[in-house]
Amino acid sequence: MENKRFYITTPIYYPSDKLHIGHTYCTVAADAMARYKRMTGYEVMFLTGTDEHGQKIENRAKEAGVTPKEFLDNIVCGEKGVLDLWKLMNVSNDRFIRTTDDYHCAAIQKIFRKMYEKGDIYKGSYKGKYCTPCESFWTESQLVNGKCPDCGREVKDAEEEAYFFRLSKYADRVRHLLEDTDFLQPRTRVNEMVNNFIKPGLEDLCVSRTSFDWGIPVDFDPGHVVYVWVDALFNYMTALGYMNDKYDDLEKFWPADVHFVGKEIVRFHSIIWPAMLMSMELPLPKHVYGHGWLVIDGGKMSKSKGNVVDPYALAEMFGVDALRFFLLRTFPFGTDGNFSNELLINTINIDLANKLGNLVSRTTGMVEKYFGGTLPTKREDDKLDCELKHAARALRDRYEAEMEKFQFQNALAEIFQVIDRANKYIDETAPWVLGKDETKRARLATVLYNLLETIRICTTALTPFMPETCDKIFAKIGACQLCRTWDKANVWGSLRADVTVQKGENLFPRIDSDQALRELEAMQEAQKKAALPAVEVEPLDTESVDFDTFCKNDLRAVKIKNCESVKKSDKLLKFTLDDGSGTDRIILSGIRKFYEPADLIGKTAVAIVNLPPRKMMGQLSCGMLISAVHKEKGEEKLHLLLVDDSIPAGAKLC
Ligand code: MSP
Repeated sequence: MENKRFYITTPIYYPSDKLHIGHTYCTVAADAMARYKRMTGYEVMFLTGTDEHGQKIENRAKEAGVTPKEFLDNIVCGEKGVLDLWKLMNVSNDRFIRTTDDYHCAAIQKIFRKMYEKGDIYKGSYKGKYCTPCESFWTESQLVNGKCPDCGREVKDAEEEAYFFRLSKYADRVRHLLEDTDFLQPRTRVNEMVNNFIKPGLEDLCVSRTSFDWGIPVDFDPGHVVYVWVDALFNYMTALGYMNDKYDDLEKFWPADVHFVGKEIVRFHSIIWPAMLMSMELPLPKHVYGHGWLVIDGGKMSKSKGNVVDPYALAEMFGVDALRFFLLRTFPFGTDGNFSNELLINTINIDLANKLGNLVSRTTGMVEKYFGGTLPTKREDDKLDCELKHAARALRDRYEAEMEKFQFQNALAEIFQVIDRANKYIDETAPWVLGKDETKRARLATVLYNLLETIRICTTALTPFMPETCDKIFAKIGACQLCRTWDKANVWGSLRADVTVQKGENLFPRIDSDQALRELEAMQEAQKKAALPAVEVEPLDTESVDFDTFCKNDLRAVKIKNCESVKKSDKLLKFTLDDGSGTDRIILSGIRKFYEPADLIGKTAVAIVNLPPRKMMGQLSCGMLISAVHKEKGEEKLHLLLVDDSIPAGAKLC
């Protein structure tokens, strides 16, 4: 008998920052898959979670002035944290693992020890690039312009004692797995792995560190913590109860049916993970699927660029189901997809408002208009109906074939072909014409019934993508619980002949594209600004000036006797100054937008007094007042340099 169990995972997310739409992408895909499998009769285990150890978390917590655990609890369980996001996105995970959970930590220590005792983990030394202020090791490829990716400072070569996993030992077996089986999907990722990593020769993998503390201690060698991949990858098994008593589902669900992972971590999942499982003599997962990224203008979303897209904001504006749908309808799962606001709005308007929404509201509206909401049972078929019926009946198989290959975009395209067909059928049968003719009532009822049946079948297939909306559609078209099932998704005629519908509200009102774009742009602009460094000062001048030249600047303390705006100038202030010489000095300064003139009168400032006089707006300015300038969130700030009022006018600064 077929084993009707399905185990699917997402990567466990690294919660050093809030999650963005890119993270949401994979989780929503996994959720659609899990819901689809449940619908088709599988017992499903859908796991997601957070990967909570490492240097970066330790650093972030330090910056925030809290312990790593406090930092994590806030970003994982706090308001608008990871758990909140999955709840908002209607993610139906069965389990959530945090790698700081006690059962996981204890299991990882056992796994590490077992591999060590087997001789697959050994002690060596790790060489890398070290950033002293961040106390972090980096690999050459992680550096940005040769500098620390976190703080931008110089790094130096350094070495520390570390444990290594004998990855090289498993190279041949892993190569066979990649090349000769369908373990890694899509197939295009196989060449990438073999050519870039296996052929050049697999190096053993560093699996412990001594340079930071925030990790699972190696219990037989205090001072070492387990480093990243042993800790992170085994989550897929500890969450089922491997090497712990917390859960007892290993037999039932291992090996996993599929791990969904982003393209940059395919290497860890398709090379290192099977090698570690081989070392532990455990069964391998059936598939790893490496999906593409959501990119913006062809580039990566990143906090520092200020272009990360916030799923909360989008869900609030457009609704959770519309967002879920957009992510999986627009981009092929296996390759990168270019995210844009226009694309999001167009997809919602075209597919959801015009095609699906319209079909449902027109059909239910006509049942209400012509039959008071309940169809009569008398029928009159026409050969015009065959094509629609055939398309709707065939949908289940076509859709299933795509879903089984994780081709969500294609599965949705299949559904929309049927929806398009149904909309065309409305034009072909012109129910509004039939409605005018009393003798055509049986024919009109048949047309509307056929449309309702088509909607029902499409809605079943759409349910994993838009669960809440589909519930609403089922209710609108009067589908009983049985009619909503997968088993009935290829059975024509499941709705009662005298079905009662309720048109109700529009499912997807058309979005005013210009207005929504303006709102999104304003929001994203504000976000970009917020991502700018709080305070930005000009880099120090590297060109030196000789001392004698510098001394030629005659800097004096000056008392501000008067200050007023210069007529017809929105920039200039006119200062009348006492420079100790007995004659007033006039200086014009372009700082009007920063000060109210009256606020400066009586203050002591600093001026260079030996600059040649210069005419500005028809007035002579004799010197220059000194100010300090910087930027705050990208905005220019200026502070007129004011000094202690006890300093007499004319005192020389040296
Ligand atoms: N903690 C590791 C995974 C360990 S799994 C045993 C990790 N975490 S992560 O938070 O940095 O990334 C998690 C997933 O989010 C990765 O699969 C990554 O590809 C995905 N994404 C991050 N940004 C993304 C996009 N812009 N688009 C699509 N997915 C992206 O890696």
